[in-house]
Amino acid sequence: MPVLRLGSIVPDFASESTQGTIHFHEWIGDSWAVLFSHPGDFTPVCTTELGEVARLHPEFQKRKVKVIGLSVDDVSKHKKWIQDINEVAQTNLSFPIIGDASRAVASEYDMLDALDPTNRDAAGMPFTVRDVLVIDPQKILRLKISYPASTGRHFQEILRVIDSLQLGDKHKVTTPVNWQPGDKVIIHPSVSNEQADTLFPNYETVKPYLRYTKDPSV
Ligand code: BEZ
Repeated sequence: MPVLRLGSIVPDFASESTQGTIHFHEWIGDSWAVLFSHPGDFTPVCTTELGEVARLHPEFQKRKVKVIGLSVDDVSKHKKWIQDINEVAQTNLSFPIIGDASRAVASEYDMLDALDPTNRDAAGMPFTVRDVLVIDPQKILRLKISYPASTGRHFQEILRVIDSLQLGDKHKVTTPVNWQPGDKVIIHPSVSNEQADTLFPNYETVKPYLRYTKDPSV
């Protein structure tokens, strides 16, 4: 199994989903993508998470980000589960969920729980942990976070990271601790002071390596 490192091209795959066969790289196309995995259908934490992503879907779309879930059950079960998710969260979930009963994608993406012997199905197959991956239009992995099955993810944080990545790609800036869109940003260390004078007039130097400027997108 290849190690999935930030900065590497994510593996391509073809898999069944609730919206037909997905060829992953082709499906991403020119967009960004968020792929997030689930330990199983009809489970409580996952149900709340999928409802929240369905609610936030327009926020992802605004940022040109496609979202896709993955769970280790088959597509027919996913389709029944989506009805529950929509009922519980009062949403209309419209993004695909991959059916990965064989764990083919989860294995390729190193999403399977390695340690917990209780985190297995009746046949002894491991469940996935809660991984969330952000992938850019070049299919490069930009973020990967793994959460335990017991803890629901915070998808506003994923949107915040996407905002930071997209801003940094466009303007040669990085974002400090607890940054929120509109807050001041840090000039990338690769930018010289001379370049900064032109690119970010009135920037503020706290240390030679810590230079703040206003959020260039506002
Ligand atoms: C849940 O979604 O609630 C869950 C799934 C698998 C293990 C533990 C919790």
